[in-house]
Amino acid sequence: MDLTHRPRRLRQDRVRGLVSETSLEPTDLIAPIFVDATTDERVPIESMPGHERVPIDEAVARVEEVRETGVEAVMVFGIPASKDPEGSRAWAEDGVVQEATRRISAETDAYVITDVCLCEYTDHGHCGPLEAELRGDTDVGEGGPACDPTLTVDNDATLGALDRIAVSHAEAGADMIAPSGMMDGMVAAIREGLDRDGFEHVPIMSYAAKYESAFYGPFRDAADGAPSFGNRRHYQMDPANAREALREVRLDVEQGADVLMVKPALPYLDIVGSLRREFDHPVAAYNVSGEYAMLHAAAEKGWLELEAVALESLLSIKRAGADLILTYFAEDVAAEL
Ligand code: PBG
Repeated sequence: MDLTHRPRRLRQDRVRGLVSETSLEPTDLIAPIFVDATTDERVPIESMPGHERVPIDEAVARVEEVRETGVEAVMVFGIPASKDPEGSRAWAEDGVVQEATRRISAETDAYVITDVCLCEYTDHGHCGPLEAELRGDTDVGEGGPACDPTLTVDNDATLGALDRIAVSHAEAGADMIAPSGMMDGMVAAIREGLDRDGFEHVPIMSYAAKYESAFYGPFRDAADGAPSFGNRRHYQMDPANAREALREVRLDVEQGADVLMVKPALPYLDIVGSLRREFDHPVAAYNVSGEYAMLHAAAEKGWLELEAVALESLLSIKRAGADLILTYFAEDVAAEL
């Protein structure tokens, strides 16, 4: 055969590394951790094998475990001791994230990112206080509120709360703030709050293109943040939309977002790729709980080889254009690398 082009020449073992286009480092990864104010001992999260909710007293130990694998950054989620319609434990000085962050930043070198949202803190489980028409009608466990089902979260009332939460996290020592509630204007509100209170140096990683995804299921068990009625489609994005993601992200860029996140990751790699092409900011992708749980479930059945599919997933997310990846595989994959 007279073949000029033989791509296989560069697939031989000793040259593969030289021509590989993408690499994965432990320092690209962020490990989510769950700190739970309602427990004194570690509680395994059933749908996320290998992950636990840890009491505040064990937050530092949990972060040290992460750091030992070479992963330097954590994303802190909190399960509060109590909930109310406004989610007021979210900005309490002695709140669960504030307390954990204070200890982690004092006692470790980890880079601490905090999730800023209200869904784990409101008794109705939505990502902010409800619109006026719904207030007082929050006993909606069964069929949902009697009134208009399109009413959910009061966007503008939520912004003030997000400002307070972000500042309280920064005061506790958070290195980076990550708002995940998909409220319009949330980045501007938080940027203004942080700057006003002397935290100009604290960057914002916006969950800029966060979809209303069924892949969050295991997380909602883990963090106890499922909405008690309705869903999040009036604030999180429609999975059908790609151009809208660019519009969402552009708004967050105008409001001062430093890092742009796409979430979930694997079903939305087209969005990761288009953000990479359209913007110069670092792009983050959140390999969410459902993406983790499904690989574990298949591996448990003996249908997939866990280490291999985990590594391939993260490599693919990087190849699509992500600079950093939030993933429950962070420790396992980092230990492999
Ligand atoms: C809270 C939040 C969620 C996730 C991260 N932050 C849940 C949601 O929006 O329902 C999901 C993370 C995951 O599934 O791993 N706003």
